Amino acid sequence: FLKRVCTTTAAISITAMLVAGAAQAKNFKIAVGDSGGSSQEATGLGFKSALEELSGGKHTATLFLNGQLGSEQDTVNDAAIGTLDMSLLAINNITPFSPTVGVFTLPYVILSLEDAEKLTQGPIGQELTENTINDAGVRIIAWTYTGFRVLTNSKKPVKSVADLEGLVIRVPKNEIMIDTYKSWGISPTPMAWSETFAGLQTKVVDGQDNPYTTINAMKFYEVQKYVTNIRYIFSIEPLIISEQVFQELSAEDQEIILTAGKAATQASADFLREKEAEIKEILIEKGMEIVDPENGEAEFIELATTAVWPKFYESIGGVEKLNAVLAEIGRDPV
Ligand code: MLT
Repeated sequence: FLKRVCTTTAAISITAMLVAGAAQAKNFKIAVGDSGGSSQEATGLGFKSALEELSGGKHTATLFLNGQLGSEQDTVNDAAIGTLDMSLLAINNITPFSPTVGVFTLPYVILSLEDAEKLTQGPIGQELTENTINDAGVRIIAWTYTGFRVLTNSKKPVKSVADLEGLVIRVPKNEIMIDTYKSWGISPTPMAWSETFAGLQTKVVDGQDNPYTTINAMKFYEVQKYVTNIRYIFSIEPLIISEQVFQELSAEDQEIILTAGKAATQASADFLREKEAEIKEILIEKGMEIVDPENGEAEFIELATTAVWPKFYESIGGVEKLNAVLAEIGRDPV
């Protein structure tokens, strides 16, 4: 009898362990603002494969591309309240919820992929991650490096600040970007990312800015003709996880998520290094005309940095924050 009880008890506890294990297995839902072929997708796929490998197949992830789960800014709210697990979105769409990350959106601060890698993977990136947890209830676990946001429009080649006159340019709902265009003499139109293609197609707006890989993935060449190689923002697009969801995971699973995030960051850097030049050629083949701003962009730089930087010192945590960023990438303080 005793033997039977012991055997039954052992069977029950093994079943309980299996059930508990099974209950912990999770399919993480990831909202992705951009479509297939984008830098965001490269990060998402890098995360998914690392997660599946590190968890021995226990956890998996599903990407919902092209804003299927809502506008990028809405996904921050959804993740904050725990109704969405994760989101991949441009950092400019997190700034309204956690203003200190705006330091990465200030015009002409990040001047290369190497700057972006150094800043995001160093102490400043860590500090901003902690700030987004406290301010917005989301944790940054990976960084997408998407490249410089170049300007596109359907009407004319833009080489100078004066050429912008008469163009209606869409920008994200981001004060720093709105003020940057104002410093260049035009009043841009804030519009959610999920509405931008339609806005360009129906000519509610004439142009927008985003990196080459995004322009290609979103097929903007169908509705835009001219590209200007401005380099005012190097686009960084984090993978965020709901802090509530993260805290519900075991310590071991949290570690897996963070390690998979590092692999995803690397996948994104590899994608940009391998694909950006090729994608630029594809856009030319599709009929886009690419021009450089005149005088090495000097007028754009001068106007934006003079007018916009001081206006946002307070929201990014003081001028000393900007100086810490500049020091980290070997530039002089303001
Ligand atoms: C935006 O312009 O709102 C974003 O850069 C879109 C994106 O995630 O690519």
